[in-house]
Amino acid sequence: MKVLAINGSQRGKNGYTQFLIEKLFEGVIRAGGECESVTLSELNIKRCTGCFTCQKADHYLKCIFDGIDDVATVYEKMRQADIIIFGTPVYIFTMSGLLLNLLDRYPSTSNCSDLNISKSGLFFHQIDTAICSKPFVTLICQDNIETETHKNIISYFKTYSRFMDAPYIGSLIRKSAIIAGYGKNDAKLLEYPLLNEIYAAFRKAGEELVISGRINKATQKKANQELIKLPHFVKPMLKLSFFRKIIQNKIKNFMVRQGN
Ligand SMILES: Cc1cc2nc3c(=O)[nH]c(=O)nc-3n(C[C@H](O)[C@H](O)[C@H](O)COP(=O)(O)O)c2cc1C
Repeated sequence: MKVLAINGSQRGKNGYTQFLIEKLFEGVIRAGGECESVTLSELNIKRCTGCFTCQKADHYLKCIFDGIDDVATVYEKMRQADIIIFGTPVYIFTMSGLLLNLLDRYPSTSNCSDLNISKSGLFFHQIDTAICSKPFVTLICQDNIETETHKNIISYFKTYSRFMDAPYIGSLIRKSAIIAGYGKNDAKLLEYPLLNEIYAAFRKAGEELVISGRINKATQKKANQELIKLPHFVKPMLKLSFFRKIIQNKIKNFMVRQGN
């Protein structure tokens, strides 16, 4: 079982996305799988220009950037993989531009005049199924505690799954990355013992991918559990401006104490 992680973070190998990918990979290796990660920030990924030269007879299925940038190499790795991990930090309520730029280049892989109808009955033009129809996992990290922050990414990949006939086999979401010290501060493991359980769940998720080809719901729940929980009564009270000010100050002081 070959697991390919595509890391869309601009921080690349120094970021929390990579830290979490490596936790997952520990499990993949333990279960006898193979793994590789592609760090998009280290590669040359040009934006699709929308020229559709790739659809013209004299340049058929060749992007104008073939041989100039690294997208064809990443696509080849995706073809060889059994499972793909789409790893991205949340950047202003969506995935990183780096990851989106990679996906935007899909049209160059197939004949866009050929219509495909997915198993869900959705119409779309052809894309090379050896790339886009692979079972995949999303691995998302964010600083915020809000689910709202990442819901566009989940929605995007649910749509992707239905149009591409690509099984969506797991969703790993780490909120409060800043509080977790982005995995770089071991003292955080003592301060937030839950992190040990969370990272163990990431390893287990890697094992499950190799053993059963998907991540169990219970493992996802453990990996995705909240580090910081607001009491239920707080949210309705945030509609009051004086209360918002009190909470804002409390958060400010908390972040200073955390050293952020
Ligand atoms: C440009 C930019 C935009 C961001 N937007 C958000 C956001 O909308 N919501 C959020 O929770 N975190 C946001 N973050 C924080 C990152 O998602 C978070 O720090 C993440 O852990 C970074 O992962 P990395 O270390 O792999 O890059 C943003 C970070 C950057 C650099």
